[in-house]
Amino acid sequence: MSAFLSTHTRTHSCGALRAGDAGKKVVLTGWVQSYRDHGERIFIDLRDRDGVTQVVADKSRIAAVHTIADTLRAEWCIGIVGEVRMRGEQLSRGEPGEERKLKKMTNEKIPTGEVEVWIDELEVFSEAETPPFAIEDNIDTNDTVRLKYRYLDLRRPRLQKNLVMRSQITRTTRDYLGTHGFLEIETPFMVKYTPGGARNFLVPSRLNPGNFYALAESPQIFKQLLMVAGYERYFQIVRCFRDEDLRNERQPEFTQIDIEMSFVNEQILQTMMEGLIATLWKDVLGIELKLPLRRMAYAEAMDKYGVDKPDLRLDLTLCDITEPTRTSGYGILESVVSSGGIVKALRVPKDEKLTRAILDGLADFAKSFGAQAAWIKVGDGGAWSGGPAAKNFNEAARQQTNQIAKAQPGDVLIFVANKAKIANTTMGAIRLHIGEKLGLIRKHEWQFMWLTDPPLFEVDDATGEIAAAHHPFTSPRTADEPLLDEAPAKVLARAYDLVLNGVEVGGGSIRIHRSDLQARAFKALRISEDDQRAKFGFLLDAFKYGPPPHGGIAFGLDRLAMLMTGAEFMRDVIAFPKTQRGSDLMTECPTAVSKKQLEELFIQVRPDLPTK
Ligand code: AMO
Repeated sequence: MSAFLSTHTRTHSCGALRAGDAGKKVVLTGWVQSYRDHGERIFIDLRDRDGVTQVVADKSRIAAVHTIADTLRAEWCIGIVGEVRMRGEQLSRGEPGEERKLKKMTNEKIPTGEVEVWIDELEVFSEAETPPFAIEDNIDTNDTVRLKYRYLDLRRPRLQKNLVMRSQITRTTRDYLGTHGFLEIETPFMVKYTPGGARNFLVPSRLNPGNFYALAESPQIFKQLLMVAGYERYFQIVRCFRDEDLRNERQPEFTQIDIEMSFVNEQILQTMMEGLIATLWKDVLGIELKLPLRRMAYAEAMDKYGVDKPDLRLDLTLCDITEPTRTSGYGILESVVSSGGIVKALRVPKDEKLTRAILDGLADFAKSFGAQAAWIKVGDGGAWSGGPAAKNFNEAARQQTNQIAKAQPGDVLIFVANKAKIANTTMGAIRLHIGEKLGLIRKHEWQFMWLTDPPLFEVDDATGEIAAAHHPFTSPRTADEPLLDEAPAKVLARAYDLVLNGVEVGGGSIRIHRSDLQARAFKALRISEDDQRAKFGFLLDAFKYGPPPHGGIAFGLDRLAMLMTGAEFMRDVIAFPKTQRGSDLMTECPTAVSKKQLEELFIQVRPDLPTK
């Protein structure tokens, strides 16, 4: 330990001092943000995770301190002892011939700006090389460099603010759930591999040659087993691992606030979760949310917004013009409809500044979704002009479309005809794209909604193959149970997602706890009894011993933190994130390993690998 720390204890953080502290002796520690040498006096901005305080080395006060201060450079780590003083006023230097004025020296941009600390003792804990980028917000450094020097990037105030808030989120979550009787219980990361769901990372077992663990994609099965075991209310702030294609809202290892409750229905569970969300918003952001949160059925979301996670900060909605198109006389679109496709449209009111350039850009935008977009402009008496549809739609179809879309002269209709999935996805994205371009998304709002009643199964259009939309233990709606055998595609689930500003921040369901119903769900999924045993035997066995009715949810902590901090990227709320290619640029991971290591794991060796 340095001598300084054996005799001094830090009294304040660098964000703490105010006018009321003037006259106090204080001890501060931190990093040199910047220094200004004014000859007799050297002014140093001292930074720690809490803020910045100006400290002053004055030659006439203590010459030895001034001598050390003269050597300081950016990012050196130092400690000081000094006296807090008001910054007061100073005569401006004044240009030649100009009158010198009294200038206020306070810095209103920082909370400590009224005071400064006059240094009596200065200790350099460690020196720093010139960092590869300035430690401040709004720097224009490329991501590769920032991620390589992540520990320096993490010194930036914005990232520090983000991680502080993330820590507040987990603390409030633990408090809230603890108060409501939830037990924090850990579950294994190294688990049995079960196909289906997200792709797993595999871990070879040295002690069991040729066998692998999977890294848990979520604690789903274990939390259900904890319900069987009678723990009633469980939670865990837990890392999950998924070998997925990555994008902004996805990381290969991410964190869930994972929750399970016994003896509940949707209402009870969602009310408890709304309490958690409202407490987070109040404690962390100081914002009062209005409860209950809005609920919207999946069918309505798809119909009006084209997605299962609508961004309700934007009022534009979609409409379905499949029917008028069916007999519109426009051959190409009629054939899309007659082969089972749909036509979705977005009305952009005439007052919005929809430019020709934006409309022309839609073709390429839609192409990236594998679709074609068309648009027409509505004129007087409901006439159409613009793209080919304007000429090809007959009068009746035009009027009917105008009516469905509630189109007025001057409005523009944008539409896509395609298979339902593609038409919805494309129009959902066009809605957001137009909303963004026209500045119609109200960025300051928190628009929550529960998405309810989604389909239980996903049916592949091309192959007719059926898969669980969530996981195979999700309960069907009671009213839909009779459809399980005959029309599984029509069965809706007792599942729900929490959506915030167009991002799915959480998802869960009421689970199946009756073995007869589970057997029918497996049958609908065409999972044979042998397969059921091989994959989920232990769970099915457990469910023979009095499983309670139960349900749960998992929130994506990274996504919540991203939205709450206002971060643009998810990696800005994760201390050590991975890139889109799943690498860590700082530690340079993943890496190749030696032949010997692989041999120990009984993994076939690539001939080009190093031997050590
Ligand atoms: P699900 O797969 O919907 O549900 O995940 C729950 C929430 O986790 C977040 N999330 C992610 N965040 C970052 N990166 C990822 N790759 C990623 N994948 C998911 C999302 C999502 O809403 N066991 C079920 C929950 C349950 O039924 O209780 C589950 O894991 O915000």
